[in-house]
Amino acid sequence: MSKLKVAVLISGRGSNMGSLARACMDPDFPAEIVLVLSNRPNVLGLELAREHDLPIRVVDHTAYPDREAHEEAICAAMTEAGAELVCMAGYMRIVGQTLLGKWRGKVVNIHPSLLPSFRGVDTHERAIDAGVRVHGCTVHYVSPELDAGPIIAQAVVPLHPNDDAETLSTRVLDMEHKLYPHAVRLIAEKMVRWSGDEAVEDRKVTIDDVLMLPEIKTAEDQA
Ligand code: GRF
Repeated sequence: MSKLKVAVLISGRGSNMGSLARACMDPDFPAEIVLVLSNRPNVLGLELAREHDLPIRVVDHTAYPDREAHEEAICAAMTEAGAELVCMAGYMRIVGQTLLGKWRGKVVNIHPSLLPSFRGVDTHERAIDAGVRVHGCTVHYVSPELDAGPIIAQAVVPLHPNDDAETLSTRVLDMEHKLYPHAVRLIAEKMVRWSGDEAVEDRKVTIDDVLMLPEIKTAEDQA
């Protein structure tokens, strides 16, 4: 079986990269990581990648005059590694036209909310403040608009009455670690793809095994 070659872009802790690396250890998993690329040196995620014996590159954005030059360097490293899919995993840079022009339809991201709710940062605080009963995470294709590309897979996490941003983020992160390998499998097995145009083609996504709704008790149940 030929495996889908994946580059993972990180900027920090790298726990989602770690979950993908663990999934790839299963001989039946249809993808392999050919590159872990960080825009920051000395981050925890790079240590984790080393523990998994993964190829590492640091392409430090501060060493480049502008976003375009930085993204050219990233594209060159990913091409050299033979990457076919780009997984952003806590990559804290906005992706511009240089990268998306070459890789659009082949870049995915994991976001800690049920998109289209709570795009951007501080998603857990904002979910608690909004009083939603369920929160979660999303893997989506990356388009020029932030956190707005077509959704590939989502998983739901309940809010508990005493949740703060930290307890909620821990519960969501645990779910992210299940969702991202699931989404990469869907792409590798060609269950989902995106041409890069606005319309999603051949979207045959199954999410039954990751969609976890909280148990909702009715008055009848409690009687
Ligand atoms: C995750 O919550 C991810 O959804 C968001 O950034 C965080 C990265 O965590 N985009 P890690 O670096 O994968 O541990």
